[in-house]
Amino acid sequence: MVQLFKNLTAFAVGAALTAGSMEAMAHKEGDFILRVGAAHVSPNDDSSNVLGSDDGVTVDSATGLGFSGTWMLSDRWGFEVLAALPFEHDIDGSGSLSGLPVGSTKHLPPTASFQYYPDVGGDSFNPYFGLGVNYTYFFDEEASPELKAALGTEQVELSLDNSVGIAGQIGADWKVGDNWFINTGVWYVDIDTDADVIVGGATATTVEVEIDPWVAMVGFAWRF
Ligand code: NI
Repeated sequence: MVQLFKNLTAFAVGAALTAGSMEAMAHKEGDFILRVGAAHVSPNDDSSNVLGSDDGVTVDSATGLGFSGTWMLSDRWGFEVLAALPFEHDIDGSGSLSGLPVGSTKHLPPTASFQYYPDVGGDSFNPYFGLGVNYTYFFDEEASPELKAALGTEQVELSLDNSVGIAGQIGADWKVGDNWFINTGVWYVDIDTDADVIVGGATATTVEVEIDPWVAMVGFAWRF
């Protein structure tokens, strides 16, 4: 009887310890974390001149749906792929071209990153840092009616080169349920492109555009 009691006690203590460590266990090797949220792309844009010496273009901000998947390679390291529904940005003139809508573009910014999850203890707060590579694919570029009017022809197209650059990020998962979290994350993405203004089939001018946005995402994370 005493032996049985000891065994039961040992079992109960063991179960409690296991439950306790399960409770405290942060993301761990083999976990898959799906994050979905609203993503806001806020360009830190700059451009070369378009026609004169004091003009350029600006790129406005855009909001869309972002989602990412992280596979935990170990308890500390994850590999993340970030995707999104297309973002649409307006491109406007600046400097002496201020007030001239130039056009618009859509883009997809898939990004692959390695993430580090520091051991801060517990599962209630899982912060991480990441570094990776972004590929930005521009499509559906359109020249504005105002640009066509300014150039005196309907035969105006905009074409933006795709961009490859470094992306850095910080983020955190805040526990709200057994395996789900509120997620916030911020990326800085180096996106540089050449924007060709094509008039009557020939490239009239090429403008180097740095978009280099901050991307902020707020949403939910599920751990599997
Ligand atoms: Ni840049």
